[in-house]
Amino acid sequence: MNNRIALVTGASRGLGRALAAGLAREGYDLIIDARNAADLDSAAAEISRAAAGVPGAVTAIAGDVTGPAHRAALARAAQDAGRLDLLVNNAGTLGASPLPALADYPVDELRTALEVNVIAPIALTQLLLPLLRASGGAVLNITSDAAVEAYAGWGGYGAAKAALEQASNVLAAEELAVRVWWADPGDLRTDMHQQAFPGEDISDRPWPETVVPAFTRLITERLPSGRYRAAHLLPPAATGSQTRAAR
Ligand SMILES: NC(=O)c1ccc[n+]([C@@H]2O[C@H](COP(=O)([O-])OP(=O)(O)OC[C@H]3O[C@@H](n4cnc5c(N)ncnc54)[C@H](OP(=O)(O)O)[C@@H]3O)[C@@H](O)[C@H]2O)c1
Repeated sequence: MNNRIALVTGASRGLGRALAAGLAREGYDLIIDARNAADLDSAAAEISRAAAGVPGAVTAIAGDVTGPAHRAALARAAQDAGRLDLLVNNAGTLGASPLPALADYPVDELRTALEVNVIAPIALTQLLLPLLRASGGAVLNITSDAAVEAYAGWGGYGAAKAALEQASNVLAAEELAVRVWWADPGDLRTDMHQQAFPGEDISDRPWPETVVPAFTRLITERLPSGRYRAAHLLPPAATGSQTRAAR
């Protein structure tokens, strides 16, 4: 098996599915996950169709990234494939919705946000680093501007994404054979974004597919490890719709 292989978490919808389809078009074989197996299977079929004409395989493994057994199954799939070139830690949770002030943040929901958005990506990265070191591969952690800006109500999610950003920063200093990128995709028209703005019309936000060229550039040009904003990686014409502050 000579194809490059990418593992994308949370690829059944939203940004993860768009990124996985973009990688398939670039010729990557994929390992993808999400909790809902039916949604994941239909995304896998769609991703295969997106790569029409490009020989590649999509392996879908349903499960929760916070579960050690599921993470081990993802790592086994990469080991069975014999290589891993890219890990995209995309699966995430907003935490409590509607977004509460930190003063009222339910502690259990805060713990879940940290578990999904920080602990799980670090733990999955630990399992996959040997393969990534061997291939001179890359880790792409999807973060948010809520990691660096103080938006009222975004304290739980923002704290978790800030922790993921600093973990990425340290990983980049430690793993010199591997690229480590942490990237803010900007506001996107997805289920999570709707959850953040319940009842609001979010149809002015761009579809996730619009930022895929930014991530394709990051990956294909193998830009240096560091923090990126999708809007800054897109050609100027493609950024016109990205005028709102991102989360
Ligand atoms: N949308 C935005 O405006 C925006 C802005 C900045 C950053 N982001 C970041 O972009 C990433 C993708 O967000 P999105 O907006 O595309 O969200 P989304 O539409 O809600 O999709 C989330 C994906 O992750 C999966 N997922 C969620 N929890 C999981 C878990 N515990 N284990 C495995 N899979 C899980 C979901 O499937 P299941 O529910 O079936 O598990 C789904 O496939 C997230 O990291 C988010 O924080 C989004």
